[in-house]
Amino acid sequence: MRYLVTGGAGFIGSNTVDEIVRRGHSAVVLDDFSAGREENLKRSAGKIEIIRGSITDLPTVQKACEGADYVIHLAALTSVPRSVKDPLETNHVNIDGTLNVLVAARDAKVRRLVYAASCSAYGEAPIQPQCERMSPDPISPYGVTKFVGELYAKVFYRCYGLETICLRYFNVFGPRENPTSSYSGVLSKFVTALLIHEQPIIFGDGEQSRDFTYIENVVQANLLACDAQNCAGKTFNVGNGGRNTLNEALRLLEKISEKKATAKYEPPRSGDVLHSQADITEAREVLGYDPKVGFEEGLRRTWEWYAAT
Ligand code: UD1
Repeated sequence: MRYLVTGGAGFIGSNTVDEIVRRGHSAVVLDDFSAGREENLKRSAGKIEIIRGSITDLPTVQKACEGADYVIHLAALTSVPRSVKDPLETNHVNIDGTLNVLVAARDAKVRRLVYAASCSAYGEAPIQPQCERMSPDPISPYGVTKFVGELYAKVFYRCYGLETICLRYFNVFGPRENPTSSYSGVLSKFVTALLIHEQPIIFGDGEQSRDFTYIENVVQANLLACDAQNCAGKTFNVGNGGRNTLNEALRLLEKISEKKATAKYEPPRSGDVLHSQADITEAREVLGYDPKVGFEEGLRRTWEWYAAT
């Protein structure tokens, strides 16, 4: 089988590509390397095709889709605060880009497209955990763009019969996440702050909580979604099913690293939700998803990886 992974040089993408290759399939990476890195693909180097280009350029996406059986569409501008600062650019890449990928996948007659949706679509959900039946109500431009992508993916199934599956990822973390941007995920920031003896920054009081999901679980979900039966046109939560506050995460990291961490507290970020936790019943039942690496074990592996690089 031939898989096209958009954003395949990024954090989630490159880990997914490695697993595709490990299973003996062929992989094509489409990435503009704005966040993705060559370095991330070194394990699969020589075994994959790499196309440099943006999902905002339709001819490039069409070329990348040629001969693909599956498309795993991960390319996006991530980050809630970036989207608050520049909603136009986030909209352009995440919505126009996703529409290009859907059009190209439809025309190339791929078997199925898996779309990286986001728990940010839920917004400030009144009940935890969040399940797929709840009405989305995003509170950031990023959440809007990710949710619009889902709507388009569903409509492409309804109108054109392109099989699409949307996976709402919940705060993915682990090796290869780039910690150097101000938009990087919080755990990568905490880990690197401890490694370079800086104070980790917490926006707000640190009592906000997230369903931190280790990368390996997400890779598993991506590949299950390509082959699962009777689920085209559907959306699934992909989380761990628990949640931890930032204060808890930092305390756990102190224990794992055996280093003292005194956080610097700053004002909360606009667009931030307070709590987020996935109900993963649907993904378990329909996809056979089973998050094997829990939060503590994932954080330990993440710490060890960053400490060794
Ligand atoms: C959101 C999505 C997530 C998606 C990500 C993409 C939700 C609940 N989650 O993540 O699925 O992958 O966007 O960008 O919507 N923080 C600090 N210190 C830091 C960095 C962040 O305190 O150095 C805080 C943030 O203010 C936030 C929390 O940590 O409260 C998590 O932030 P971050 O890791 O950026 O992810 P979300 O915005 O929650």
